[in-house]
Amino acid sequence: MTFKIALVGCGGMGRRHAHGYIELRKYFDTVEMSAVCDVHADVAATVADEIGDATGARPTIYTDFDEMLEKADLDGVAIITSTPMHHRFAIKAMESGLHVITEKPMGLTLKACRQMREVSQQTGKSMAVAENYRRDPMNRLTRALIEAGAIGTPYFALDIGVGSSNGAVMHSTVWRAKKIQAGGAPLDAGVHNADMLLYLLGGANTVFAETAINESQRTLRPMDEVAPVLAKMYNHRKEDGYETGDTVEQTAVDTAFGVIRFKSGAIGQLLMTDTSHGQYLGVSTISGSTGTMYRPASRSGESPRIVRNDGTEITGDALLELVPDFELDDTTSILWNGARRISSYDMDFREIDSKILAYEYLDMVAAAESGGQPEVGPQEGMDALALAYALMESGATGLPVTVEDVAEGRASAFQDEIDAEMGI
Ligand SMILES: NC(=O)c1ccc[n+]([C@@H]2O[C@H](COP(=O)([O-])OP(=O)(O)OC[C@H]3O[C@@H](n4cnc5c(N)ncnc54)[C@H](O)[C@@H]3O)[C@@H](O)[C@H]2O)c1
Repeated sequence: MTFKIALVGCGGMGRRHAHGYIELRKYFDTVEMSAVCDVHADVAATVADEIGDATGARPTIYTDFDEMLEKADLDGVAIITSTPMHHRFAIKAMESGLHVITEKPMGLTLKACRQMREVSQQTGKSMAVAENYRRDPMNRLTRALIEAGAIGTPYFALDIGVGSSNGAVMHSTVWRAKKIQAGGAPLDAGVHNADMLLYLLGGANTVFAETAINESQRTLRPMDEVAPVLAKMYNHRKEDGYETGDTVEQTAVDTAFGVIRFKSGAIGQLLMTDTSHGQYLGVSTISGSTGTMYRPASRSGESPRIVRNDGTEITGDALLELVPDFELDDTTSILWNGARRISSYDMDFREIDSKILAYEYLDMVAAAESGGQPEVGPQEGMDALALAYALMESGATGLPVTVEDVAEGRASAFQDEIDAEMGI
């Protein structure tokens, strides 16, 4: 059976999803992207043309989600709009009998996510989250190494992303500068870091954080200045009401310094800002009783690295000796050209990105067809968002918060304004 899916939201990430689908079709014919939807017909047309040229089947274009649900013959939808629409479209789709995959974050707030979780449970429809970092084979290997005790008992993690956007709006997308549409970079981007920390270290208990908006006057700059590696994916999108060079008021948080206590007892430091002028610091490590794991950047293909107290370094294929049972799953192996046990790989970013997206679709469709759970479903999607939001909630009140209180709505001071704006 072919699973018919619609791509909703054809901006920068939507175009990357289209490329993921094109990659998927090189290996599998079980999924068909038969419709695309964006409020901007020409933005949707760019993506439909690329799919049509590459696969020979151009999806039907819609500019209205509700009309698409009425007219198109679908099994599922991929919701890649800006984040405020995720819950509304996901709920409507599941209530119409369709399975769903949304981009991360699963919903804009935890309240939105709880509603999505409930509808998924009531309707029995799959609710998958396209969280991509963990699916990188090098992150699979890193987890296997930690689980096998390659660094002993994990003591603490450092996840530090300190850099400068030079006062630009993130990804040249105005919605990301607005608290009520994105929350802030420590959420929109930090949810990836949160998911990876949970993936590698298990659940988190408490968070204390300080947060800030250091730069509330931002400039809308072209994407090839802001994020050159993604620029080609974003050059077709429309920014209603703004032009390059405009000043944009930033109400979204741009800086978060958080300390996390994991259920295992390990401690984590998650630090993120794009307002560090003249200093860049990128650290992604986990230190344990017998050494430190240096994590490669997700989607770089680089090998993890373990350093022992005496300076000995273990990297590349030597790592595989520490995890004799480590193997990539069948789907990843097919997408990664038959690889089963690898310690690095050499591909460009866009190819890696597309392969991971292809994996996400196949995982979602397998869950939908078997009635099982996708790898990243409501639980994992909400766990990661609750950890990222715990930084915001603690920052808003000046008090430590438990991640569970954030997940279940008992700590929501930061999110209340966003929920009110969404009318939920
Ligand atoms: N996993 C990742 O690495 C990653 C990277 C970038 C973005 N994202 C996520 O993907 C989503 C989209 O981000 P983006 O950077 O592509 O933003 P974007 O602004 O480039 O794209 C959003 C698109 O949604 C369309 N849209 C808005 N409202 C709509 C509606 N009511 N109906 C149909 N279409 C509508 C817009 O016209 C736009 O083309 C966000 O949730 C973001 O957090 C994930």
